[in-house]
Amino acid sequence: MKFFLDTADIKEIREAHDLGLIDGVTTNPSLVAKTGKPFHKVAEEILKVVDGPISLEVVARDTSHMIKEARILSKIHKNVVPKIPLTREGLKAVKVLSTEGISINQTLCFSATQALLSAKAGAAYISPFIGRLDDISHDGLQLIQDIVTIYQNYGFQTEVLVASIRHPLHVLEAAKMGAHVATMPFKVLEQLINHPLTDMGLEKFLKDWEKVPGNKIV
Ligand code: E4P
Repeated sequence: MKFFLDTADIKEIREAHDLGLIDGVTTNPSLVAKTGKPFHKVAEEILKVVDGPISLEVVARDTSHMIKEARILSKIHKNVVPKIPLTREGLKAVKVLSTEGISINQTLCFSATQALLSAKAGAAYISPFIGRLDDISHDGLQLIQDIVTIYQNYGFQTEVLVASIRHPLHVLEAAKMGAHVATMPFKVLEQLINHPLTDMGLEKFLKDWEKVPGNKIV
């Protein structure tokens, strides 16, 4: 399973990158706005740190302008994956861009049938937002299972990029389902690392180590 960081905060990206476990980054206009920096500056900073797919979202709503923005974004750097919303106009844009060989992350997916259309249009990634579905009492993880099954049934190459992740259980269940990518906030990445039994166990080992004669490794 690939791990992407879902943030535009360069400090978080640097810290996560230092772990050596981050394969890419996803951003959206809200995340970029939170940084208070100009869009191109944010993109440049991220591209310098992470050598993997970096999703940058288009803001146009009609097909021709989406295509124009996505082409410009894809020319910034080979790692840029333009992100296009899953609308009627967005599907048309994905079809054109994927035919040109541009990898697209199709975002704001909330149903399996939307995901089916996106795969048919040739998206490289589909981003189902599971936390936002849970927020309105729909089962976000069930959507992941449905999409994984459908894509397997027909051999679609589109990768399932689980988005709007809120907690470690989302990552765990999505991994069991075979989703290709999980994009998560920095906080969730940290939650995946930490376990109180690890901390307690280490505390006890080091206490006992004090009793070992000489207690030195180097
Ligand atoms: C995905 O690419 C989105 O940026 C993100 O996962 C949205 O998550 P949210 O629902 O926490 O805003």
